[in-house]
Amino acid sequence: MCGIVGYLGPRDAAPILLAGLTRLEYRGYDSAGVAVQTESGLTLRKLAGRIGGLKIALGRDPVTGSCGIAHTRWATHGAPNERNAHPHVDCTGQIAVVHNGIIENADVLRTRLECCGHHFVTETDTETLAHLIEDADGPTLESRVIAALTHVEGTYGLAVIAAGEPDKIVVARRGSPVLLGVGEQEYFVASDASAVLEHTRSVVYLDDGDIAVLTRTGYHVIDREARVQTRPVNALDWDLEQIALGEYSHFMLKEICEQPRTLQETLRGRLLFADGTARLNGLNLTPEDCRTLGRIVIVACGTSWHAGLAGRHIIEALAGVPVQVEYASEFRYRQPVGMPGALTIAISQSGETADTLEALRAARAAGSKVIGVVNVVGSTIAREADGGIYLHAGPEIGVASTKAFTSQITALLLLGLYLARHRGLSLGDGRKMVEQLARLPDLAAEALQIEGEIKALAQSYVEERNALYLGRGINFPVALEGALKLKEISYIHAEGYPAAEMKHGPIALIDQDMPVIFLAPKDAVYPKVISNMQEVKARGGRIIAITSKGNGDLRGLVDHQLSVPPSPSLLSPVLTVIPLQLFAYHIAAMRGYDVDRPRNLAKSVTVE
Ligand code: F6R
Repeated sequence: MCGIVGYLGPRDAAPILLAGLTRLEYRGYDSAGVAVQTESGLTLRKLAGRIGGLKIALGRDPVTGSCGIAHTRWATHGAPNERNAHPHVDCTGQIAVVHNGIIENADVLRTRLECCGHHFVTETDTETLAHLIEDADGPTLESRVIAALTHVEGTYGLAVIAAGEPDKIVVARRGSPVLLGVGEQEYFVASDASAVLEHTRSVVYLDDGDIAVLTRTGYHVIDREARVQTRPVNALDWDLEQIALGEYSHFMLKEICEQPRTLQETLRGRLLFADGTARLNGLNLTPEDCRTLGRIVIVACGTSWHAGLAGRHIIEALAGVPVQVEYASEFRYRQPVGMPGALTIAISQSGETADTLEALRAARAAGSKVIGVVNVVGSTIAREADGGIYLHAGPEIGVASTKAFTSQITALLLLGLYLARHRGLSLGDGRKMVEQLARLPDLAAEALQIEGEIKALAQSYVEERNALYLGRGINFPVALEGALKLKEISYIHAEGYPAAEMKHGPIALIDQDMPVIFLAPKDAVYPKVISNMQEVKARGGRIIAITSKGNGDLRGLVDHQLSVPPSPSLLSPVLTVIPLQLFAYHIAAMRGYDVDRPRNLAKSVTVE
């Protein structure tokens, strides 16, 4: 969602804040602003639109000072205009706040504060925080922030500065991620590590309930009772190159093309060839746990949920454990049954998705052990889970998830193999699977080789208004994912369906204006998928088929055939999704859209 940056140190704050905001722009991008401690008090600059505009404004009219906070917004309360952009200030303009999350009782607080004479100028929930702090009693800024937060319901990651205490930033967290960056006599605040990476690799992740106080001489973390908390300093393992665009026109394309390498990273050190199993040190499951597992519940959202659907096929086929896949947002409000003895797997690229985090907590509260399949190291889900598997896919900046999806499926393949070997899969079969997994990065590289063909194809479909994606078995989730990629970045209406379900309704939509993309790698359901293609063909639909090399020539039946390397069925989603990612990318790029920052979306959905 929104992004927060803060700086306190010897350097000029504004350029550092702007550079940090630029790194975070993928998280939210409807408006941005900074507040800097200057010789004349707090100075604010805010603008609707992208960070570029704010940079120009600050270039024309600079603000000088070495302590400040900044924000890039994804609107929740109030229109995305300059007035509603953060930072927000109190009545006196002496306290400035940037905030991620949602203050759920903002309306009640606002009415109460207005009755006491406070004057609000924005429609945001965040402004209530500035007035609450203004209203609070206490000898220090942190004591007033703590007092203010006692009135607040909802979630926040926030940073506050006050003219009266010019060398201080107070940070608080409940439900929205915030970390501190620790440099050489300088300190940073960020909602995401990429904002501080060019200055320091030492970060402190705050826990819910933490208040951090940054001054020129150091930082400390306290709880609501002002008791000092010890939080470890972690070393970031990302490098700057990973968050740079390099030769690519968009991060999404870079991340699609990176997949052979990111799959390699997900597999690195985890394939045990002789033992025919996976090494998953962080899983925290005993062999006995694996053997006695009665059920797995996967909770996730969006693309990660699609990976979970593929994971169901993988784990059920390999390990014989029943798997249930749940939208995290639905699961968290149900009364889950039979959770003791179950294992819940939260899948999340960011590790910060609010619904997935709450689903994990609900599963734990209902008696389940919980593990995370997460990309961002140190993220909340990673820290709250009992164990898990990191994807090691590196930072994913493009809002549309690509490399995380293929790494999630690969991690679930490793998990399936690991569980299976404890549940009766033979050494020989385990070794075969390890060999197959080891080839996956090369197969992904081969799948990418048809990019030119896909780009040419995209040209013929760039004006479409609808598309239907159909697949069966483990490729049904790929159909969902292909449709999601197309709709979210090209704004073409697209639906994914199980191919045979088409007959139960969507077939009514088929005519020459409805392109139908079939997932048809060679597997047990291939002949059935061919029959489904014939049904579409008979009704004049145009067909693009994603097949495996060696499937034979489908000309005569389909309009376009794109082939990925053959693979065992369970591995096929990692390959069949690649042409769909490229297809969506090229269509959106040809339409001239901002591929990395599609309208209305944000990278990490940290509010409900
Ligand atoms: C789609 C996309 C989203 C995310 C979803 C979950 O391209 O990126 O659907 O997959 O918001 O995010 P994570 O995986 O961070 O929990």
